[in-house]
Amino acid sequence: MRYEISYHCTPTEYSLLSTIYYLLSNTSYFIFTTMSPIILLENLEKAYFMGKQTIPVLKGISLSIQKNEYVALMGPSGSGKSTLMNILGCLDSPTGGRYILNNKDVSKMLDDELAEVRNTEIGFVFQQFNLLPRLSAAENVALPLIYAGIGKKERMERAMEALQKVGLAERSHHKSNELSGGQIQRVAIARALVNNPSLLLADEPTGNLDSKTSIEVMEIFGKIQAAGNTVVLVTHEEDIASYAHRVVRLKDGLLESDKNHKEYMAGREEHTAK
Ligand SMILES: Nc1ncnc2c1ncn2[C@@H]1O[C@H](COP(=O)(O)OP(=O)(O)OP(=O)(O)O)[C@@H](O)[C@H]1O
Ligand SMILES: [Mg+2]
Repeated sequence: MRYEISYHCTPTEYSLLSTIYYLLSNTSYFIFTTMSPIILLENLEKAYFMGKQTIPVLKGISLSIQKNEYVALMGPSGSGKSTLMNILGCLDSPTGGRYILNNKDVSKMLDDELAEVRNTEIGFVFQQFNLLPRLSAAENVALPLIYAGIGKKERMERAMEALQKVGLAERSHHKSNELSGGQIQRVAIARALVNNPSLLLADEPTGNLDSKTSIEVMEIFGKIQAAGNTVVLVTHEEDIASYAHRVVRLKDGLLESDKNHKEYMAGREEHTAK
């Protein structure tokens, strides 16, 4: 059975109704595009299974990160930071809960679908830099583009562009044993940027660097965020976390606190005053 509701309105009513409709649809579009989180975690869990033993590592994390946020993830050793970063980077899957990345539920994706998301949306800077020693800086940076099926000429052009962004264009032919620790880390960052990912994840990117080089690396991350990307990094160092706009702490596989930059700095001052 079909019901039809017809209502004949006057031209003034019609124009008023269409204005309201236009405003509502555009406002919701505006809210949707500006407020839609790039990362949405709902009660995320990760357990490792060793023989008959189950080791729960992430025990129900709910967190949302908006586009263009700059987040530092902190917490004691073993609290689950790298486990969480590997899931955020689609290198591993959760064992419970949901992970929505850019409006797509990636928690249930198969390996090759995850690889596709990883190649197109995410740049990952590992704690161990993972450069291939036989390849030059430019060839290392170009590696992700091979997986993306891009031809050699364009690969090398884009690798050079990415090396330029981290101030290393003149070292493009050097192999990793001909580079300093800070330069190697910058090559690793260039490699994470070469696909123009909207999400940059870095696990302790300054863990092995001196303080001057750490500041240089943090300045690069600042520029990446200012260019409109989302940055999430793990750090143990309070000074490094103070570059971020939001600091999230994990403790024993759970979210312990979530502070904006102002709250985080106030907490630090209180701590130092004691
Ligand atoms: N493949 C695995 N199998 C079993 N347990 C694991 C595995 N990977 C990690 N774990 C355990 O999960 C817990 C969290 O590890 P994770 O590497 O996420 O910690 P983290 O917060 O990054 O620590 P750190 O600051 O030392 O890097 C640890 O207790 C670790 O032993
Ligand atoms: Mg770790």
